[in-house]
Amino acid sequence: MEFILDTADLEAIKDLDRLLTVAGVTTNPSIISSTGMDPETVIGNLVDYLSPEQKLFVQTVQTSVDGILEEARWISQLRPKNMYVKIPVTHEGLEAIKQARNEGMHVLATAIYSPDTAFLAALNGADYLAPYVNRMCNYGDGVQQVIDLQRMLDAQHVPTKIVAASFKNADQVRRLIAAGIQAVTVPPAVAYTMIGHPGVQIAVDEFTAAWQKAYGRTTLRA
Ligand code: E4P
Repeated sequence: MEFILDTADLEAIKDLDRLLTVAGVTTNPSIISSTGMDPETVIGNLVDYLSPEQKLFVQTVQTSVDGILEEARWISQLRPKNMYVKIPVTHEGLEAIKQARNEGMHVLATAIYSPDTAFLAALNGADYLAPYVNRMCNYGDGVQQVIDLQRMLDAQHVPTKIVAASFKNADQVRRLIAAGIQAVTVPPAVAYTMIGHPGVQIAVDEFTAAWQKAYGRTTLRA
């Protein structure tokens, strides 16, 4: 199971990477442009920060097959390993995914709104599929559709992994983890919600107060 961060906010990545086991970082053009920094700097900072074992996912911006492939080749050479190209599943994107895989690139098929498109992108060789869970919820039960997609892959013995994306709350993440999804990518706000239950600090304060009252100190040993 891979827990991935869906952000280009380096400070949030560093903070959560200290606290949690972070398998990698996903970005997209909206995420990178929201930093207000130029894309080469943002991508360069992520390449410099992540350990070789952590995965980095960078999305193409051009929309023609040739344009996608040109950017995919540039993205692929940014790191010696664990570098993934995100390609949206437009018709041009599906063609580019096939070609990129033939060239040996690692590919994540993204902007997925339906299990059908996702499954066909998997047959094109995509390593990962990123269904947009919350956006899919605008059209029905996005969580259930991702579970259906996992069943389709399992039933047909297709090894492509799902990295569920576009989360807006912790409940969506929890339901998919419980259903056995192999990877999730979550924005920092959702990750902090998952580890930010106020009851934890209340419990710790109670323990400290009890200890202080009984022993006059806040350490285990005098
Ligand atoms: C991640 O790979 C996706 O690009 C991202 O989760 C999309 O999220 P959004 O729906 O918040 O744009």
